[in-house]
Amino acid sequence: MRLKTIALSAVLALGTLATPAFAQNATTEFDRAAEIEAALAAGDVKKGKSVFAKCKACHKVGDKAKNGVGPQLNDFFGVEIGSSEGFKYSKTLLAKKEEGVIWDIANLDAFLTKPKDFIEKTKMTFAGLKKEKDRANVIAYLASLQSVEE
Ligand code: HEC
Repeated sequence: MRLKTIALSAVLALGTLATPAFAQNATTEFDRAAEIEAALAAGDVKKGKSVFAKCKACHKVGDKAKNGVGPQLNDFFGVEIGSSEGFKYSKTLLAKKEEGVIWDIANLDAFLTKPKDFIEKTKMTFAGLKKEKDRANVIAYLASLQSVEE
């Protein structure tokens, strides 16, 4: 009887330890290649390229892309937020980075719906993409530009 109780509390303790880390996706187990594949499957890269016209004034992608008003977006997908070297991110974005938040599909979708709701006081002065399709397509387009190490 005593043993059972101990076993049960061990399971409960493990559960509480595992949940917060998983919820913030601060895990080394994160499968970047799989997330990129999932983004490509969920959206249309070509259509996403057109949606990206709305982002171009501030974000550069592709060869030799540099930080501008916003950070370059070549290698941000599936890595910790706020990782473009030399870009001066807002304090609130950096606070979220400290929590270990990763740019996965779910977080990107939330951010692009209404940037200020996802990161309070973000420097990204963009109203957001209301249409779910537009978000899925632009996320697929951005995923298509990421380099993946095998
Ligand atoms: C008016 C300029 C502007 C526009 C338009 C804009 N952004 Fe941004 N974006 C920024 C700035 C500035 C930041 C940095 C935010 C911060 O530090 O809080 C940012 C941050 C980001 C990040 C986080 C990158 C990282 O390194 O963590 C992503 C992803 C992003 N933007 C995607 C987009 C997409 C996709 C669009 C178009 C649908 C878009 N942005 C439109 C200015 C812009």
